[in-house]
Amino acid sequence: MIHYPEQDSIEPTPSKKQKKAEAKRTARVAAQPASPAPDPEKVVAMFNSIAPTYDSLNHSLSLGIDRRWRRKAIDALKPFAPQTILDIATGTGDFAILAAQRLDPDRIIGVDISEGMMAVGSEKVKTAGLDNVIYFMKDDSTDLSFDDETFDAVTVAYGARNFHDLDAGLREMCRVLIPGGHLMLVELTTPPRFPMKQLFHIYSHTVMPFIGRLISHNDSAYTYLPQSMSAFPQAEELKPRLLKAGFSDVQFQRFTFGLSTMYLATK
Ligand SMILES: C[S@@+](CC[C@H](N)C(=O)[O-])C[C@H]1O[C@@H](n2cnc3c(N)ncnc32)[C@H](O)[C@@H]1O
Repeated sequence: MIHYPEQDSIEPTPSKKQKKAEAKRTARVAAQPASPAPDPEKVVAMFNSIAPTYDSLNHSLSLGIDRRWRRKAIDALKPFAPQTILDIATGTGDFAILAAQRLDPDRIIGVDISEGMMAVGSEKVKTAGLDNVIYFMKDDSTDLSFDDETFDAVTVAYGARNFHDLDAGLREMCRVLIPGGHLMLVELTTPPRFPMKQLFHIYSHTVMPFIGRLISHNDSAYTYLPQSMSAFPQAEELKPRLLKAGFSDVQFQRFTFGLSTMYLATK
């Protein structure tokens, strides 16, 4: 188990009984049919439309905690000192900018299917003086245009739940990584336990769509958010999918009662 500084919670080393139960659960999850996939055209239209308000809404809806999650997720890559990083579903570039500042790599390529989101990102990168490190490119995570074994690390922050084909996306991430390279994926998840589980359900189905609609003027975007969160494989459910895509040594760490989960995997 890798030690991460400032952890919210660490999954303890499982006992034999727990391992057996997890293996059973893993097999059951792997056999389940996939949830209905998001329509890529609708995803692009939605993110293009909310791009100008995305950053402020993001931080308001998470009450600013997402900044801490992002820092902790990026710091998990520090021991590996990656020099070339692919930031998938880079959006407005928040994660790429933070990765450039905290990991000091030679180059980060941010890819996304929404040009509107990346246009906002490009401005931020220029303002941060990082336009000689971070480059944006339109590309679909499920069919990347990079050669095999191009990157030391791949990062995906809060983007994977929007992929129309998650397994294809995971396979592509593995393909473009060098052998021994690392994937760090962080995604919103739903808290697994009482009372946060119930409180979050109420918050995400009332406050979130209300504030989202008010600020972004997009009726569907912030109703889609809680739906896409619960449809995404939660914590240990993603593990068999990552292993099947070609990764090994898959670990996860829950942040803040499981509102966000970080996965670290090695090619
Ligand atoms: C919630 S935003 C996350 C942005 C950013 N990573 C962050 O941390 O704020 C999700 C992004 O995923 C992008 N996206 C969705 N499906 C994609 C795909 N198949 N390939 C690449 N990007 C995709 C969307 O366009 C959107 O910009």
